[in-house]
Order: sequence, then structure tokens, then C-alpha cells
Amino acid sequence: MSNVNHCITLAERDRQYIESIFHTSALFKKDSKAYENLLAQKYVGLLFYEPSTRTFASFATAVKKLGGQTLEFQNMAQTSSVTKGETIADTIRVMENYVDAFVMRHPDVGSVTQAADVASVPIINAGDGSGHHPSQALMDLFTMHEHRGSLDGITILIAGDLLYGRTVHSLLQGLSYFSNTHVYLLCPPELALPEEKIQIFRSSGHSIEYLSSEKEIPKSCDVWYWTRVQKERFSSPASYEKVKNTYILSPELLQEKGDDNLIIMHPLPRVGEIQEAIDKDKRAIYLTTQPRNGLFVRMALLSLLLT
Ligand code: NCD
Repeated sequence: MSNVNHCITLAERDRQYIESIFHTSALFKKDSKAYENLLAQKYVGLLFYEPSTRTFASFATAVKKLGGQTLEFQNMAQTSSVTKGETIADTIRVMENYVDAFVMRHPDVGSVTQAADVASVPIINAGDGSGHHPSQALMDLFTMHEHRGSLDGITILIAGDLLYGRTVHSLLQGLSYFSNTHVYLLCPPELALPEEKIQIFRSSGHSIEYLSSEKEIPKSCDVWYWTRVQKERFSSPASYEKVKNTYILSPELLQEKGDDNLIIMHPLPRVGEIQEAIDKDKRAIYLTTQPRNGLFVRMALLSLLLT
């Protein structure tokens, strides 16, 4: 990879980096107006080869709130020279004549690394297939930190698609830099976390274990992090149908197993795995605090890469 400071996964980062993101995000959250010219004359290319709502919108807003400009491609695969067969490398080499950084999302694992290999400006991975999604993890970690005051000793339940869910992969990488975290996993066996990720997490001194059903959820959780089964990553519709909606967060489950100080998070979109009746519970922050923090964290990420 080139010498440029990219953000591809959190594996290249450390606790200090994540804490500096927390610090800068909190400054922006307190008074974003004070920084409205920070990225003046900076141009950021948003290259999205895969659908996005929040990630695209929050990166675009983050650049603009800091006084920068965006060059936006929402349907890269349909609207750019990709339709004529242009490679990722060529697209990057051409576009970097116009922009100071890229935010890129692509359906293939490794595609953003491929782009970073040739790029002479920073690239932020906004999701590469079932690989990673570091900016989502940073906003999730910031939100947990804000709620609890510390990530050390946190207890978190992660439910849903742990095999294909890139937000989960990046979240665990980020959590591994803190100490003494307890992770409970709830998923159908077909969607289990790849074993090497379990081993890496355990070997950095944390506990991580599978629950066999909702009945085993401990009352001690600080966070429930629910995720969508990633339909688009399955090889056949039948294999998706078999595992979708295995674990649904219902008011009854929350009543039975949720602590008063719990927060309920989800990277969104949800497709039925959290019932809408949960939305009005004060512990549900997936439509409010969590996506709002995404804006400030992306402002922090951009400002640390571009100034
Ligand atoms: C996630 C993603 O794209 O990985 N969405 C997001 O960026 N907030 C989660 C998902 O699509 O399920």
C-alpha cells in the first residue's frame, strides 16, 4: 500500500487513535459551527459502488459542515466509466486529479485496499463487501463511550449476521484495543463469526462466547448491538430465507432481559429484526443518537486525515 494515511480497517490503528477520534468528535458535537472552514478548498470524492443511505449522507454532510466540497457518485457501477469497463485503479488515478480524499464503498472484499494501493490521496473504506466498515465502528464506539464513560470492562451482546456483517467485524477490531471486554454472540450457526476473528479477539485478553438462545442473554449487558442478515451476500435466496429473522428483538424480550441502563444499537437498515414497538423505548438509540453521532465522527475522521 502507498505511504498515504488511509482508513481501510481498524487493524492498523490503536487505542490512542480511537481516543483522538472520540476527543475530536466531541468537540464537533459541542460546537460544529466553530469549525465551518476547516476543510475550505478541500474536495472529497464519494465513490459508492453499492447502495447507501446513512453512510453516504453523513459523509456528504460532514464534508460540507467543515466547509469542504464533495464530488458525489451514488450509483458508481451504473453512472460512471465503470459501465465501459474501467478498472478501480484507473478510476482512482483519474479522480485523484480532482479531489483531496475519497470515501469508497464497494461490494467486494479487498476492493478498497486495491484502490488504496494506487491512490496518492487518503481513502476511507465506507464498506467493502463483508469485510470492514471502520467509520461505522468508530461511531458505534464513540456512542458506547459517550453513554458509559469508558469502553474498558464493557459487556455487549452482538446479534444477527456475524459472518457477513462488516460493521461487526470492525466493531470487534475496535473493541479489542480496550481492556476486559465481554462479548456475547447470538446468531444462527450458519452466520457465525469466522473462527480466526474469535481467536484474535480472545488472544487480546477479552472474553467472547456464543449464546445458544435469547434465553441466555445476561441482564448485565451495557449494549445490545443488533444487525441485519445481509441478504445480498448469500449465494441463494433459499439459504437466506432459512436464517433470516432467527433473532427478533421484541418488547417481550426487552422487558425480560434488558437492563435499565442498556442502550440498543443497530447500524441500520433494519428489515424486521428489531420490532418497531421498540423505537419509542428510551434505550433505543439506533434512529437518534447513534446516526447523529455518525456525523460528528465522520467530521473527526475527515479532519484528522485532511488537515
Ligand atoms: C451497514 C453496512 O452498509 O454495512 N449499513 C451502514 O452503513 N449503516 C449495515 C447493513 O447494511 O446492514
